[in-house]
Amino acid sequence: MWPAADVALVAPATFNTVNHWALGLTSHFVPAFAAEAIGKGIPLVTMPCVNQALAQHPQFERSLATLRDAGVTVLRGAPDVDWDAALSEAGRRID
Ligand SMILES: Cc1cc2nc3c(=O)[nH]c(=O)nc-3n(C[C@H](O)[C@H](O)[C@H](O)COP(=O)(O)O)c2cc1C
Repeated sequence: MWPAADVALVAPATFNTVNHWALGLTSHFVPAFAAEAIGKGIPLVTMPCVNQALAQHPQFERSLATLRDAGVTVLRGAPDVDWDAALSEAGRRID
């Protein structure tokens, strides 16, 4: 299998992926990996990239709150991923 991860960055995180991850729906690889990573104690950073209309959906903020409560660092995304910011934060999360 893969070597142990020091940190995982989930970006760009879609509305779909954020909600699957927060709700523990593991039918797709990325949310399943990220859901397991919470349980394994792997430091996690995410940068959602969600359009304004989808971001108004009531589940979106609930999902972000769930992920924050689980210890995930949630960076606010723009239309394009700010890779410098995302990778810098991931680096900070490595013990
Ligand atoms: C017109 C249109 C615009 C969309 N815009 C976005 C968007 O800005 N951000 C987003 O997270 N999903 C958006 N979606 C939904 C994603 O494309 C869809 O949920 C996709 O399955 C996400 O795949 P993934 O989570 O597996 O990467 C849009 C869908 C449509 C049809």
